[in-house]
Amino acid sequence: MLAGVLPGIGLANASPAKRRVPFGAALEYRHFINDPDYTALFVNHCDMIFPMNALKWDALQGAPGEFNYLPAEGIVSFAETLGRGTYGHTFVWWNALPAWVEKIDSAAKAEEVLVSHVQNVAAHFAARVPSWDVVNEVVAHDPVNEGPWRDSLWMRLLGPSHVDIAFAAAAEAAPGAELAINDYDLEFRGARYDARRTAMLDLVRRLQDKGLRVDTVGIQGHLYPEVPIGHEELERFITDLKALGVGYRITEIDVIDWKLPRDASRRDDMAAEHVGNFLDAAFSAELPRSVSTWGLSDRYSWIPDVMPHRRGGKNRPLPFDENLKPKPMYEVIQRYLAS
Ligand code: G3I
Repeated sequence: MLAGVLPGIGLANASPAKRRVPFGAALEYRHFINDPDYTALFVNHCDMIFPMNALKWDALQGAPGEFNYLPAEGIVSFAETLGRGTYGHTFVWWNALPAWVEKIDSAAKAEEVLVSHVQNVAAHFAARVPSWDVVNEVVAHDPVNEGPWRDSLWMRLLGPSHVDIAFAAAAEAAPGAELAINDYDLEFRGARYDARRTAMLDLVRRLQDKGLRVDTVGIQGHLYPEVPIGHEELERFITDLKALGVGYRITEIDVIDWKLPRDASRRDDMAAEHVGNFLDAAFSAELPRSVSTWGLSDRYSWIPDVMPHRRGGKNRPLPFDENLKPKPMYEVIQRYLAS
């Protein structure tokens, strides 16, 4: 049956080993369609396979009321056919908005469009997508100087209430689904990161005070080896979430290795060590509901476009190398996930 899903996929090791915490990765549709060897890596190693970009607004509703579900449907069905989990990223984000949404200039229209997008997408996938990032990256990059909320079209038109509106719409449209807030820079040591964790906890309390359900916080885990992991800080953050009845997932691990040495094997060891420090801090507070990486192999990543290696090396941000061979980072992650 699998060969029918995607011809050419290697089935030698089609089911990953049993783990105590599921391992997932985000899959870009273009590569899913065009690179069967890459897609086979997901089949062989992932308990969860989910769309990297196909569930974003610009991919789903490029023109008002015209929904294109084909790419997202392709990946969700693929995961389903394999008996793997999946994940919904994301209903509301400051980025990946089509031009027609960027042109909205009234609060009433913004609310109408936001609610109808959530309703439409949630209804389309119903229980097939069991967890949603309802909002992504709503905490200000630097909450002390620009915060606590991140600037966005939704903030400008609706203020912080856009998050309430999104959570209320998601709770109604996807009543059985896990509802999450996903964000970055929640794992490091330093004043800006303290402020981001505080802003996130305040946001969770705000939603709860309004009677809105928040199930999990997604800690993205885009890691910078030059920025130390805040071991106690992250542990406390996860414990504080737990006290509010909120769990967590690790959603987008990769290592931004732009400042690491050029030597590939040294770089891989340093990246693996940093991922280990991160997982160590998080796991010592509580087990996450899942651990996912943002892509799976160095063959495809957003990092070379945004933060290319400064000494002319090719970025090596992910658990598998360009040739789809496992790196020390993969071994480290699996050590934490193993039962
Ligand atoms: O699909 C089109 C394709 O048809 C076209 O030929 C090509 C030409 O540039 O563009 C393709 O779309 C691109 C898409 O990725 C798929 O490759 C978009 O231009 C590009 O903006 C988009 O970038 C994604 C970005 O989010 C914005 O949506 C990155 O792949 C993705 O890694 C990144 O992911 C974010 C998370 O959602 C949130 N956390 C941070 C993370 C990294 O920035």
